[in-house]
Amino acid sequence: MITAAPVYAFAGTEHTGKQLAAIEAYLDELTMRRIRELDLPPGGSCWEIGAGGGSVATRLARDIVPHGRVAATDLDISRLTPAGNLHIHRADVAADAPPPGGPWQLIHARLVTQHLPQRRELIPTLAAQLAPGGWLLLGEFDCQTPPRVITAAGADVAELFDSFIRTLLGVLTARGVDLAWASQVHAAMVRAGPTDVHSLRYVESWTGGGYGCQLLDANSHQQHEALLHAGLRPTQLDRVRGLLQDPDFTVTSYPFVSVRGRRPTDAPPEPATGTEGDQR
Ligand SMILES: C[S@@+](CC[C@H](N)C(=O)[O-])C[C@H]1O[C@@H](n2cnc3c(N)ncnc32)[C@H](O)[C@@H]1O
Repeated sequence: MITAAPVYAFAGTEHTGKQLAAIEAYLDELTMRRIRELDLPPGGSCWEIGAGGGSVATRLARDIVPHGRVAATDLDISRLTPAGNLHIHRADVAADAPPPGGPWQLIHARLVTQHLPQRRELIPTLAAQLAPGGWLLLGEFDCQTPPRVITAAGADVAELFDSFIRTLLGVLTARGVDLAWASQVHAAMVRAGPTDVHSLRYVESWTGGGYGCQLLDANSHQQHEALLHAGLRPTQLDRVRGLLQDPDFTVTSYPFVSVRGRRPTDAPPEPATGTEGDQR
């Protein structure tokens, strides 16, 4: 049987490292604050889905469940290193069995489900793999409120930047990203059964040369050919990349929406699942 390879809009480019470092700089402190609020038991087990560069999985294993276990999974595990109670598995969350270690006190995925065609069905599937009282924590960019210029030198800059962002989001939509998903996660989680559902929306300014503009710069390179194909001119892309390094240029960030929900404590646990799979 031929199975279609999973399509991930930012798969395998030389700019992935820069993209992941920028995401971590933007979101790790906020993410860890949200995780600390859950008051997880030090011996608990956590599943970090689409672990990317591994910063959250590492901190979970070291600081949150030092006597427990963390399974970090991703399609690309080249940046993930196992250590002590941190276990790494190559797995497609939409197609493969969950890693060993469940049921989970925490399942966390940041900037992953927006990319998956199965995003809606995934929420009840993941919720069913939580231990009673366990938490599902999802974070996404709200691309319906994309970055907009706050300060810039030059009258046509806002128009140029809007055109870049519009084209980028068009390319990502064509690659299966749901731009509106972040605003739908809370309701989808309520429908799936978790209780105590709570969401938070975070937005800040991004200045040229800082991590947020480096994220946009990395994205501009990751989608270079597609952006040109969609109508941006090379000179426009060069100008946008110049702005993204200019300290006088400021834009609003992508709003980050973080949603958590909890499996009721009186819910019967699912039978333990998981395979050793492709592990390192
Ligand atoms: C935008 S990055 C975010 C990385 C990390 N979660 C973070 O926030 O720092 C998305 C990650 O999800 C992974 N990913 C995409 N589709 C996936 C899938 N179907 N199964 C597992 N991981 C996936 C990618 O390989 C990538 O590492």
